[in-house]
Amino acid sequence: MRIDIITVLPEMIEGTLNCSIMKRAQEKGLAEIHLHNLRDFCSDKWKRVDDYPFGGEAGMVMQIEPIDRAISFLKSQRTYDEVIYTSPDGEKFSQPIANSMSLLNNIIILCGHYKGIDHRIREHLITREISIGDYVLTGGELAAAVMSDAIIRLLPGAIGDEQSALSDSFQDNLLAPPVYTRPAEYNGWKVPDILLSGHERKIDEWKLQQAIERTQRLRPDLLDK
Ligand code: ADE
Repeated sequence: MRIDIITVLPEMIEGTLNCSIMKRAQEKGLAEIHLHNLRDFCSDKWKRVDDYPFGGEAGMVMQIEPIDRAISFLKSQRTYDEVIYTSPDGEKFSQPIANSMSLLNNIIILCGHYKGIDHRIREHLITREISIGDYVLTGGELAAAVMSDAIIRLLPGAIGDEQSALSDSFQDNLLAPPVYTRPAEYNGWKVPDILLSGHERKIDEWKLQQAIERTQRLRPDLLDK
């Protein structure tokens, strides 16, 4: 899978995308993430990407031309399944969306900034708008990094133990059960006996029951889905 991220601040996410599972997935050839500086697609020598809004509102608006040039350049190289725009007014990102995006071959993520982007880009070039939550970030870079992480860890082979991505919280609308490791007792704090019993079926039942109990207590809204 290939993710092309168009941004005015590539340095904001460069490090994040080259750590941990995202780094490993790229090294294994499972994923490619390419950062493109929007300013490289400006036709003027000042590398200007924004301008004042028509109608006199406060704040600056990202202009059509550099974005159109960046997207057209990428589209001339390969076919894209989605051209995503990160925006607080987009569809709320979720595990099912990450799951479905992990099946795509090529996606572009355009990071928003300033007051937003010229609306004609959204009408003519963007295929999907995604928000990572009901709060406003300075720009879409962190949203692009969050989405890339959630998608790439699902690619077969990205995580050592593939089962572990399937048993994540939200994969079945349940929060994950608690996990423990050695020592079995610390300061008198004990690991639940059942986990040390070696009885696989009973352990699975316990995990499910814990997952349901935690979801009922912490995120009852998930059980309505
Ligand atoms: N850009 C600014 N805020 C955002 C959010 N919550 N999600 C995605 N992109 C954004």
